[in-house]
Amino acid sequence: MDHIIQAIEHGHIAPSDICFNLIRRHGGADYGIREQLNYGRKTLINQEQLAQYLFSYGLMVQNQWQVLASLSEARWQHTPERVRVFDYGCGQGLGSALLLEQGLLAACGGRLDSIHLIEPSELALARAEAILGCYTDHAVPIATVNRRLDDLQPHDVVCDPEGVNVHVFSNILDVQGFDWVNLINRIIGQDGRHVLLAVSHERDFLGGERLPDAYRALCEVEADLGEWHVAHAQTGTFVCRRGQKAEYFVFDVQVGAAA
Ligand SMILES: C[S@@+](CC[C@H](N)C(=O)[O-])C[C@H]1O[C@@H](n2cnc3c(N)ncnc32)[C@H](O)[C@@H]1O
Repeated sequence: MDHIIQAIEHGHIAPSDICFNLIRRHGGADYGIREQLNYGRKTLINQEQLAQYLFSYGLMVQNQWQVLASLSEARWQHTPERVRVFDYGCGQGLGSALLLEQGLLAACGGRLDSIHLIEPSELALARAEAILGCYTDHAVPIATVNRRLDDLQPHDVVCDPEGVNVHVFSNILDVQGFDWVNLINRIIGQDGRHVLLAVSHERDFLGGERLPDAYRALCEVEADLGEWHVAHAQTGTFVCRRGQKAEYFVFDVQVGAAA
């Protein structure tokens, strides 16, 4: 049985007190299997790996989203529209959970329309669903998509043409083995406002070029005037508290006739 799901079901983690530190305290453990996780990219297949990921990478992911939430809050804080969240390669849901914790929930809680979690690990996805359900006190529909990104179907990623679509790429764009061009095209091929938030460990090997490439491609999109309006585009690097380097981008675009 999953420790976190159990803790939520038994009320040891409740909507009133859920936070990343509590999740890591209940679910993180060092089983000495960090090397099995392939720099954290592995599709996790058992409880020990889920615990090791939280133990070994949790604090880095927490710090990444503390920074990214603050860098992006102007994009989602004062919007009057509905907010739909997509978390690609969500793992245990840490990226979207931390974004909620770092301000999105307080700013947009009543306007959260749905959260869409996409992840090939069934175990991680079930935990992500429980965590996000707890953060939102079960008041927001959570959709789970148990697929690899290259296998997504059109109905798996349906954006809100009239709301704000927040796309979370937490330590996923640098994961080789899926076509990020297809994924980005699937998103920006849909009308609506899209806020793409991406963060990954900065490295010059193993897919380290993919996040900057995706940002560059977004900046170079050639669209008909009146169909594509970029409100904000920002990229950069920062150093997490424990010394890991991170790279990120924030890209806010309106697609379609409203642009
Ligand atoms: C580095 S982890 C990031 C997890 C989570 N987003 C976070 O920041 O903690 C990479 C995740 O990508 C998932 N993944 C790997 N290849 C994938 C693919 N082709 N399609 C979708 N997800 C994939 C893994 O299962 C894993 O959960």
